[in-house]
Amino acid sequence: MRCRVCKGPIVIELRQHNAAFCEEHFLRFCRDQTARSIKKFDMFGTDDRILVAVSGGKDSLALWDILLDLGYTADGLVLGLGIGEYSESSTEFARTFARDRDATLHEINLQESYRFDVPTAARETGRVPCSACGLSKRHLFDKTALELGYDVVVTGHNLDDEAAVLFGNTIRWKDDYLARQAPVLPARAGFPRKAKPLVRLGEREMAAYCLLRGIDYIVEECPMAEGNKHLEYKALLNELERTSPGAKMQFYFGFLDRAARHFEPEDAVEHLISACVRCGSPANGEVCSFCRLAERAAPVVLLPTRSGRDS
Ligand code: AMP
Ligand code: FES
Ligand code: ZN
Ligand code: ZN
Repeated sequence: MRCRVCKGPIVIELRQHNAAFCEEHFLRFCRDQTARSIKKFDMFGTDDRILVAVSGGKDSLALWDILLDLGYTADGLVLGLGIGEYSESSTEFARTFARDRDATLHEINLQESYRFDVPTAARETGRVPCSACGLSKRHLFDKTALELGYDVVVTGHNLDDEAAVLFGNTIRWKDDYLARQAPVLPARAGFPRKAKPLVRLGEREMAAYCLLRGIDYIVEECPMAEGNKHLEYKALLNELERTSPGAKMQFYFGFLDRAARHFEPEDAVEHLISACVRCGSPANGEVCSFCRLAERAAPVVLLPTRSGRDS
């Protein structure tokens, strides 16, 4: 096989696109696919300030690299989740990338700022680690973006992630989650705009991109993700993709084009949302779910209320 663009020797074959590319044209393909998603879904423009949530993994580092190359104003945010050595080295990969590209990286360490970490939160609340982790991530991405004046938060979710999540939400018919499956979610009171510009690229492409660009990233999966259903769904979809190249794209983009409009977000609950008395974030009661998690995971520390009183 020869490069689809220049007919030179190839570095990768992409069966789902019925194409193969040399190094230069593969890197260009990744940038073009990202630019195409940004444009098609109207994710952001060149005047917007973008906050890239970087985990130190291949997807978010590749995304940050691509956005900088495309000329966007994109700073990074890495969260130290306190998952032992895994979190320490994830943060270190993000720092190295920022240093190499002379980019701005914000850091928040859960333990230092909130006196708890993901393993403790999971243990103390009886939640599965990924649920405590996801809640903390969403809260801190939103809060940081709003406080620092970013227009949009972007994450490195790729086609494999989104197809697996869609699969899980479909087999259980989770209406409300299906309504939030879009690659861009508009800003609403207390929440910044959120976007996933890598939805046209898969895990294999992002690993190849990092390799060719010399980006070092954490290869290990999170040690707490064992038994995670999404990993199971990914494996199933990979098997399907092996025999039917393009199946993941058809499934995910077919949903967006033809079915997503039938699932409306439950805005009935929107009017119930008020400001958390502790942190000011949107809450479904007096205290938001992140502050409730923090209180249970680090009960000896009383978080100040917004008026400065403890309660
Ligand atoms: P995950 O939830 O681990 O599949 O990660 C999905 C996306 O969330 C990544 O591509 C990143 O954009 C973001 N993310 C995950 N972990 C972190 C972290 N520790 N700090 C900042 N962003 C993260
Ligand atoms: Fe969140 Fe593993 S990264 S539980
Ligand atoms: Zn070429
Ligand atoms: Zn709160």
